[in-house]
Amino acid sequence: MNSESDENPMGVGMQLGAVVQLTELYAVIESQADQHLLPLAQNATDIVPGEGSSTAQVLFIGEAPGEQEAKQRRPFVGRSGQLLRKNITEIGLEATQFYIANVVKVRPPENRDPSLDEIEAFRPFLEQEIKIIAPKLIVTLGRFSMAAFLPDGKISQVHGRLHKVTYNDLKYFVLPLYHPAAALRNGKMLTAFKEDMQKIPKILAWITTTNETGTKSNSGKIVQNDITSNLESEIVATLLQ
Ligand code: URA
Repeated sequence: MNSESDENPMGVGMQLGAVVQLTELYAVIESQADQHLLPLAQNATDIVPGEGSSTAQVLFIGEAPGEQEAKQRRPFVGRSGQLLRKNITEIGLEATQFYIANVVKVRPPENRDPSLDEIEAFRPFLEQEIKIIAPKLIVTLGRFSMAAFLPDGKISQVHGRLHKVTYNDLKYFVLPLYHPAAALRNGKMLTAFKEDMQKIPKILAWITTTNETGTKSNSGKIVQNDITSNLESEIVATLLQ
């Protein structure tokens, strides 16, 4: 049988496949929440799903939902979300090109930092979400999201620098950014956040030219390798500074 991309140059089949997989993934997360198998969650409605295009080129990953996000069950819809979404629009990304998710999918009480245990509990779901979407570029927002890919990174040193991260055999391009909430509190961070966001279109063009995404096999099917260990990372480009 032909691969989906042979049959369907627009990739519609792949897109539907990814939508179904994301729907199924969140059904599992919500069911686990209902069974009290997840930290922070009492029931399914506590889960804030990721949002956006299932075949996004850019995957933005935040830390955990806040009050507005928990109420509306949508990621990044409060004040920091408005800053993020405004900057996404300003760099010209269209709705089909991005997806927004969180490491932890339930609001921690009083918006406290998520604990390591909470991050670990949600980590397998984030990994599946990444595999399904297979983005060209992952943009981490804040230090907790950055630490999922660059555990030894210091956000003040690595923000705005493109990294190639390898989990087992899969390669991801990761651009760490300050969290937009931090940018709202600090003028210097706001400037850095905006400048770093402006790099995204250039990085996407560069990745497309190098054709070096490791998240899909040649057949266009998502590689189903486990991405739980063997984390290694290297800074691949200071070219964008
Ligand atoms: N901060 C986050 O990290 N995620 C959200 O969804 C909202 C605020």
